[in-house]
Amino acid sequence: MLKKVLKKILKYVPIFVLGIVFAVLCFLMLNIAMEPVSTPEYCGSSCHEMGNAYQSWELSVHGANRIGYRVECVDCHLPPKEKFFTHIFAKAYKGAKDTYKHHFGGEYDGEQQRENVLASLPNENCLSCHDDLLKKPSRSFVRKAHLKVLKPTDDFEYRCIECHENVGHERESKLFSP
Ligand code: HEC
Ligand code: HEC
Ligand code: HEC
Repeated sequence: MLKKVLKKILKYVPIFVLGIVFAVLCFLMLNIAMEPVSTPEYCGSSCHEMGNAYQSWELSVHGANRIGYRVECVDCHLPPKEKFFTHIFAKAYKGAKDTYKHHFGGEYDGEQQRENVLASLPNENCLSCHDDLLKKPSRSFVRKAHLKVLKPTDDFEYRCIECHENVGHERESKLFSP
């Protein structure tokens, strides 16, 4: 009896292993395929709607800073990459939506998009990099502000970009004001 069951199980082992190999391959290919459509150059230059966003990003602390690390569009505008599947699905959804709007959506309204982003960009996206806010030796009012964000005491949630509106795009310069 036991032998029979074992035999049956063994019969399926190769299929099981093949399944795993297939899944791993898919995972790798997906990663490779996503790479070129994740760069700021792709995001910023593939369609005219993003031109302003790209140029103002290049002038921001995240596009150019003293440590020379360029924070990419997807780092802020999509859920953190560590959450692989959430990231991929959000990317596919937003990509499809942008493409649709590009072709059928009529005039691009930068100001409206700006408001949409300001209303929706979650703290989580910023915190995936800035997880050391309270460890830094900041001035006391900055510390207080960040304490409020990280340890909310009531139902009210402070959001990073309420205070740091221009972090992703330097809009102060007249050239790029919307
Ligand atoms: C540090 C985070 C951050 C990065 C990096 C970033 N953004 Fe943004 N983005 C924001 C925030 C915050 C807003 C809303 C405030 C504003 O518009 O300045 C925004 C607004 C936008 C908007 C709507 C307004 C507009 O200009 O049309 C677009 C489109 C956009 N970003 C695209 C991009 C692209 C493309 C890149 C990369 C080249 C990028 N973003 C990089 C945070 C970021
Ligand atoms: C992929 C990592 C990453 C993400 C995501 C990210 N940042 Fe940054 N941020 C950086 C780096 C790198 C710098 C430049 C560091 C420096 O100049 O010391 C920076 C600089 C800053 C600064 C200026 C710091 C200074 O000393 O002047 C602020 C403010 C800031 N980020 C806020 C945000 C906010 C708000 C978000 C979310 C909308 C965000 N960041 C998303 C990596 C990131
Ligand atoms: C209530 C307002 C407020 C909120 C909300 C806020 N900050 Fe700040 N933050 C400040 C002020 C003020 C400064 C100091 C002035 C500056 O450098 O722009 C600062 C400075 C920073 C700096 C520079 C380093 C430092 O500690 O001085 C970073 C990075 C930063 N904030 C990231 C964030 C992130 C990420 C969030 C969301 C989790 C956030 N902030 C939410 C007010 C705020």
